[in-house]
Amino acid sequence: AFKPLVFSGVQPTGNLHLGNYLGAIRKFVALQENNDCIYCVVDLHSITAQLVHEDLPGQIRSIAAAFIASGIDPEKHIVFNQSAVPQHAELAWIFNCVARIGWMNRMTQFKDKAGKDRENASLGLLAYPSLMAADILVYRATHVPVGDDQKQHLELARDIAMKFNLDFQTKIRSAGTGVDIVVGEEPVHAYFPMVEPLIEGPAPRVMSLRDGTKKMSKSDPSDLSRINLMDDADTISKKIRKAKTDPDALPGEVEGLQGRPEAENLVGIYAALADTSKAKVLSEFGGQQFSTFKPALVDLAVSVLSPITGEMRRLMEDTSHIDAILRRGGERARERAEKTMAEVADIIGF
Ligand code: ADP
Ligand code: NA
Repeated sequence: AFKPLVFSGVQPTGNLHLGNYLGAIRKFVALQENNDCIYCVVDLHSITAQLVHEDLPGQIRSIAAAFIASGIDPEKHIVFNQSAVPQHAELAWIFNCVARIGWMNRMTQFKDKAGKDRENASLGLLAYPSLMAADILVYRATHVPVGDDQKQHLELARDIAMKFNLDFQTKIRSAGTGVDIVVGEEPVHAYFPMVEPLIEGPAPRVMSLRDGTKKMSKSDPSDLSRINLMDDADTISKKIRKAKTDPDALPGEVEGLQGRPEAENLVGIYAALADTSKAKVLSEFGGQQFSTFKPALVDLAVSVLSPITGEMRRLMEDTSHIDAILRRGGERARERAEKTMAEVADIIGF
């Protein structure tokens, strides 16, 4: 039976945190049942902001370990490291020639990561979304589970796919490798599909535990701002107890969370960890104080995360096992990517 093709990636930079887990990895796990999934450690992306990393091989293995410890099955699906499949970079080059500089300049992540000294940012940081589009489209994947911060990049991936399809309409038709799709009102003969972001859920953007207006991030200097996947139970407990909140009780309805970003964040985290909705969480905890809610959240977070942490540690002890999974995944991914690149070369005329 036909199963939709899912693709997503995580950078091997620093510690994974609860935002990466709830915004991405937990969704990857859930999507395995009804989809064909490709999950990638995106090492080529990790050198865009910072070229030199102390232990890149270790970081790559730890992301793969997190995928597997969280419940991704590398036999049924594909887990691999991006640079093992050179077709990602090859298609990214073509997409660099499809995308417009103005499109890249509008990306808010580029503006954030480049900071004030934009002239001194790497060219790779500017082109990052073009590589991300290639990661997905080199498999012609259609569904991409990501956190809310990646929404703009996925819109750009659609723009790139659309421009390629339109620029090469005649060639795609004569090559016989495209399909007819309708985008808006417009019928298009498409080689690359229009990707769909899968962002929804109770915690599409997990916020910092110290500041409800900033997203939880690897680059936040305060370690109290995030729960790391490798944190032990005591650390998780300390961070949640110290999490910023307001003095009021929890509301009974979701609307009551408006204007209370810290409360909304903790309720969203609880709902995502429990696989339920914020409304359900509030029907249980509405009217109660954070002094009651926080210990319940600690227990839930520890019960979900500690088995993953334990399994990650176990997997990291035997690097040959992880390396074998990545190698095999790379071979399987490369086979598919080669087929796409042969068709793309034919369409372009190489
Ligand atoms: P980071 O953004 O932490 O540097 P990546 O860019 O590798 O890490 O992101 C991996 C995945 O985690 C992406 O799908 C991203 O959208 C998701 N993600 C990152 N931070 C958060 C967050 N605070 N809340 C929800 N999802 C997030
Ligand atoms: Na990100």
